[in-house]
Formats: sequence, structure tokens, C-alpha cells
Amino acid sequence: MLNIEIHKTNTPQKKPDENNLGFGQFFTDHMFVMDYSSKLGWHNASIIPYSPLSFEPSIMVFHYGQAVFEGLKAYRTNDDRILLFRPEKNMERLNVSCRRLCIPEIDVEFAVEVIKTLVNLDRDWVPKKEGTSLYIRPFIIATDPYLGVKPSDTYKFIIILSPVGAYYPEGMNPVKIYVEPKYTRAAKGGVGFTKTSGNYASSLIAQVEAKKKGYTQVLWLDCIEKRYIEEVGTMNVFFKINNQVITPPLEGTILPGITRDSVIQLLKSWNIPIVERKISIEEIYESNTKGQLEEAFGTGTAAVISPIGELNWNDKKMIINGGNSGALSLKLYEALTGIQYGKLPDPFSWTKEVK
Ligand code: COI
Repeated sequence: MLNIEIHKTNTPQKKPDENNLGFGQFFTDHMFVMDYSSKLGWHNASIIPYSPLSFEPSIMVFHYGQAVFEGLKAYRTNDDRILLFRPEKNMERLNVSCRRLCIPEIDVEFAVEVIKTLVNLDRDWVPKKEGTSLYIRPFIIATDPYLGVKPSDTYKFIIILSPVGAYYPEGMNPVKIYVEPKYTRAAKGGVGFTKTSGNYASSLIAQVEAKKKGYTQVLWLDCIEKRYIEEVGTMNVFFKINNQVITPPLEGTILPGITRDSVIQLLKSWNIPIVERKISIEEIYESNTKGQLEEAFGTGTAAVISPIGELNWNDKKMIINGGNSGALSLKLYEALTGIQYGKLPDPFSWTKEVK
């Protein structure tokens, strides 16, 4: 049994139109909150009505960005069951981020039970329409009212829920991506492998500049040689060249995506060659020129599988697969969402039912 206090709302909100959910704009009736102090450890676990929180302006997260987060989804099946996708992986990764950011870890099993309890309470908010889901955002912030630079002694762990549609307005249509020539995202020894807020803050300028040029997102290159592919801030990336699928290795500068890992496992189970290795932008460009770059796609919880139709590298445009979604991207999308929505068997036991 979980030791959580539950205070239900007296004023349930009207649910949004499922045809216009967008991403991350609507929030459900309840949220989870829990406090940490060095004396008491994690304590005061409770589910309360979704509401504003009040903090002193001096709390440390506002100044030094000691904050980590996760993103996972709950899916409604045709027979109205609610499934989570590999939730323990997200909570394990949250702890990896916590360790790097000097934030106290959370018990994984406890956190998964909390997510199940919260989602179950707000289960009517899990949308029904095809391609929609309930996005779950756990996060931890440093709450000491103090302006010295040190790890905070107090924290708040919060989980909020948001019914969502596609992350990119393009949906399963290919996205256009700008290969970032100037800014960098991460260096070895830094925080590139964590989900910490600052990674996203520092990426905004590149995204804004790419948008002005007509591109949805940027593709990051390594920070030293500006040659090797890293990731697309909201997704990991895969390239299919000469029948082999290639994705950059996890060497500390990119996010170890759970969708990335699931795609690798699916490809292996289909006996499609998949390698994790360094791949340079020159190699991508040359294979595209020779007609050997068959497909490129991004993977992420929010984005699912997102085909890449164009890459722009220093104004050299690479149109991939004629700018269309590739067969492998579509097959992966069908397989992954089939498991997530309980339409296909789940041979890897990835889904966990909320009940
Ligand atoms: C996710 O895919 O869940 C992400 O966290 C990406 C983005 C929405 C920050």
C-alpha cells in the first residue's frame, strides 16, 4: 500500500476538445506533490487538485536551475484499459539525472505506483482519439530560499498530467531539420545525458533561428569537431544507409531515449541490421549524394517516430526519400504505437496496466 494522502477536487474541469489538444496546453484535475528535506528524506506524499504553487522568489531553482524532469505517456486501448509504456525506465533515468544534478533520488517502484495512482484518479482525462495520449511530466526542483551556489537541502517532486496530440504539427509527415552550424548542446563531462531544464533553455536560440529559416528543429553536432551527429533536442536520430540502420552511441552527450532503446530492440527482433556508432554529417551527405541514404527519422516519447524529409547543412539541402515518410519509419511507428495502445501483442512486456 502506498502511503499517499489523496485530496480530490470539488471542481472538476471541463475536458478539452480531443481534436485540438496540441501538446502540453491542458492539465488534468489532480497532481502529485512530495517534499524532501535532509532531515526527513522524501515525505508528505500527496495527490491534490491541480493548482498554482507558491514559492519564495529566492528558491534555488529560479536562480541556478537545479531541476530535472521526465516525460512518459498513458494510452487508452480500444477496450478502455489504460497502459503505461516502460514507466520504470523513465524513473530510472530520472535518478540518473538526479545523481548528476546533486538531487536526492526517488525509489523507482514507489514512483511508478504513484504514477499509476494519479493516472487512475484522472483516467477519464486519457483521450480516446487516435494518436492522442496522456503525457505524464514528473519533475523535481530545488526549493531552498538561498542565493549561495550549492546543492539545495530541500526539493519538491511534482507530477502533472496533460492530454496531448502530436508534438510536431507535421504529425507523421516528414519534418525539415536544420543542422546547427554554430551553437552546441553538450560536451563530455557535462549534462547532455540528463533531462535537466538548462539543456532545453540553452537550445532555444538555435531552435528560434532555425524556425525563421523554415525548419522545425535543429540537429546537433558534436561540440569539438562539429562533425558527428548527436541528437535533435527533442528526439534521438536514426539513419538507414544501404540497408543498415545507424544511430549515434550513448557516450555522455546525448539523451538515452527510451523510445530509442525500444526501436533498437524492435529492429533487432526483425533481424534488421542496427549499429550504434559515430556517424559524421559528411557521411550522411555523401551517402545521400550517392543515393544510399534511404531514410532518416527521429524517436522520442513526445514525438514517437518522426520521419525526417530534409536536412539543411550549411545551405546544402539533403532531400531524404523524396521528402516522404519511409517504409521503415512507418513500420516502426505502427509496431510501437500498436504495442503502446494494446492493439498488438507486447512480446517485450513493455506496457503496464493502470487499474
Ligand atoms: C519527451 O519526448 O518526452 C520530451 O521530453 C521531449 C520534449 C517535450 C521536452
